[in-house]
Amino acid sequence: MGLSFQLPVKPRVIVVSNRGPLVWAERCSGTEKKVAVSGLVSALLPLFRTVHGVWVAWGGRASLPNEVGFLHQEGDLKWQEVPLTEEELRLYYDGFSNQVLWPLCHYFTEKCAVEPAWWEGYKAVNKKFAFFTRKVDWGADLIWIHDYHLALLPALLRQRGNEGKMPRIGFFWHIPFPGPDLWEIVPWAKEIIEGLLGADFIGFHTPGYVENFLRAATAFTVATALPGQKGLIYRGREVTVKALPVGVDHEFFAGLSRDTKVREQAKLIRAQVGTEKICLGVERLDYSKGVLERLVAFERFLEENPAYRGRVSLIQIGVPTRAGVGAYEELRRRVEDCVNRINSRFGRSSWTPVWYLARAYSQRELAAFYLASDVAIVTPLRDGLNLVAAEYVLTRSDTDPGVLVLSRLAGIAHYLREALLVNPFNIAEMAAALRSALEMPAAERRFRQRTLRQRLARRTASAWVRSFLQLALEEAADEVFVG
Ligand code: G6P
Repeated sequence: MGLSFQLPVKPRVIVVSNRGPLVWAERCSGTEKKVAVSGLVSALLPLFRTVHGVWVAWGGRASLPNEVGFLHQEGDLKWQEVPLTEEELRLYYDGFSNQVLWPLCHYFTEKCAVEPAWWEGYKAVNKKFAFFTRKVDWGADLIWIHDYHLALLPALLRQRGNEGKMPRIGFFWHIPFPGPDLWEIVPWAKEIIEGLLGADFIGFHTPGYVENFLRAATAFTVATALPGQKGLIYRGREVTVKALPVGVDHEFFAGLSRDTKVREQAKLIRAQVGTEKICLGVERLDYSKGVLERLVAFERFLEENPAYRGRVSLIQIGVPTRAGVGAYEELRRRVEDCVNRINSRFGRSSWTPVWYLARAYSQRELAAFYLASDVAIVTPLRDGLNLVAAEYVLTRSDTDPGVLVLSRLAGIAHYLREALLVNPFNIAEMAAALRSALEMPAAERRFRQRTLRQRLARRTASAWVRSFLQLALEEAADEVFVG
């Protein structure tokens, strides 16, 4: 990415997202704030050292109806809390965000429920975010909004009347974006897309999502396409649209892979599992991640390759998520049943085929799992990008490369063609890919992983942030920063 444009010394940036940099955690002494663990937080926290910034976000717990949202300050970071009540969360988060937009954008149309009350709740909470964003807007240069929870916010912020200069508005959509045929399912598709078109710059992970967005915007609204897929003209304004995949901090992961404690932990994992080869799956326990299909593919692999029984195990980490949504509870039960079936069918006292670990792990702990495994199986049925694939590659080295089996339907597959690409719906293909991965000659493993590492090295988290700021601020550069 060419960075010819010079960022101003200290732009004023407001970041807005559903979950923010700090969360409320229960302690014996009461509730306390702690830094949230997420890819977005790791990517954006360093930004607050270089800009005048405020992060507007919910604090991860239901608040009482009369709670006011405070502006908290922790070091360089200012966090404007958006308090959300249980009822607001039920309608906006569990309802519209996670039972309409999430399944729709991941092509699980049968899980998509059309419920007007959720839509009303979604609109109301987007208005609440607009209120708190305006509250901290002291003449910001840029408001950077994140993800599907806040699709209406760009247009809401644009309706601000004549109270001073309009900041630039940037939006990053972190999940897949489907084409107009799927959006037909949602009666409020037009309002959602018009909401996004309030932004000056919209980023997606892949060129495919950009194309779908442009098609959906021209189908549902009065927007017209600019030549060369560069964006749209909407109500006399230019909206730039671009594929800009999130990056991962490769120095951080390379550092973890050299850490002696992490390496010792990896040895302990290997010793405990006790097999010659280890395969690994890591994700939030979400139906879009293809965990069940992967387990069935592993079962098929054991059926077809008796010589591998007792010699290979699969460690499957499934981090519990979205407890308020029924589909997640059902998936949890089905995954547990499937693990039990495989283990009772093939297991012996000296060998557990599937180690199922249903909890969250820190980045350091995950690095030990990455180092301990010969093959990472990242096979979502649909995924915006997928950072586990990147983290696995970056934690491994030339001397100990590992193999990445990757779904063609993960956004990151667009950038990582040298992985062993599979169709996650094709169980036979996945079982065969597992065998190829386990038997891949060392020279091929090294070549593939080295190429993947080089591709990822060009895309760091800080380069992503910088490129986004550059692109979102570019038009305003002359006006804001000269002199
Ligand atoms: C995806 C979304 C994020 C979301 C994350 C965790 O990665 O793109 O916006 O924060 O899932 O989901 P949760 O519902 O726990 O916030």
